[in-house]
Amino acid sequence: VKRTPFIAGNWKMNLDHLQSIAFVQKLAWSLSDAKHDFGAVEVAVFPPFTDLRSVQTLVSADKLALGYGAQDVSRHDAGAYTGEVSGAFLAQLDCRYVIVGHSERRSYHGETDEVVGAKALAAVKHRLVPVICVGETAEDLEEHGPSAVPAAQLEAALSGLKSDAEIVVAYEPVWAIGSGQAATPEQAGQVAAALRGVVARVLGEEAAERTRILYGGSVKAANIAAFMREPDVDGALVGGASLDIEEFSSIVRYQK
Ligand code: G3H
Repeated sequence: VKRTPFIAGNWKMNLDHLQSIAFVQKLAWSLSDAKHDFGAVEVAVFPPFTDLRSVQTLVSADKLALGYGAQDVSRHDAGAYTGEVSGAFLAQLDCRYVIVGHSERRSYHGETDEVVGAKALAAVKHRLVPVICVGETAEDLEEHGPSAVPAAQLEAALSGLKSDAEIVVAYEPVWAIGSGQAATPEQAGQVAAALRGVVARVLGEEAAERTRILYGGSVKAANIAAFMREPDVDGALVGGASLDIEEFSSIVRYQK
């Protein structure tokens, strides 16, 4: 199975409305100037909830091949859950993806493996592809090595899914996020291989073969190619560097 490389830009709580719109337009121009083949390297952005409608409008008006999704989703479908946004609502905005279990949600909003699993399930139920984030802290790394914690997190997140579920996995060591200190490509590759083993164990070999596993944590134009050379790394979840058009489009064009 050939897995299409995937470059995803997580804007987090950055880029206000006007900046978001300008960004998507400029990104589209920049990639079309560069004759980017979206079939060869898929690209998606993850704006704040408040800009998903505008991004949808731009993407559909200009028939852009740019994907987009939300940074979080409720585990519930609808009801008295103040502040939550359901997968059904995101699907109505033609979102294809949604990030679940980002380490910032786990650490600042108390999301447990159980919550992350429920969100992954809610996403799949509404035909969204969850980008399931896992990763170890610096303490975990010292105590258990690089793979044990992310593997356990992934196992828990997958437990309610069926083998035909389409998912993306993002390995993001917490110590590498926003720190300027990326994991080595070898480490990212090893953990990605271990995570593929988890997908195989829980969802089966076929799912493991087709599931894309991204690396995230201080990815930039200067280091992306090295990550992409790892056979089990199928792309990147980019934070800080996704906020700069030049930098992000260089990451997308890592093969050039
Ligand atoms: O979701 C993206 C990650 O948290 C990576 O962020 O590229 O700023 O290190 P970063």
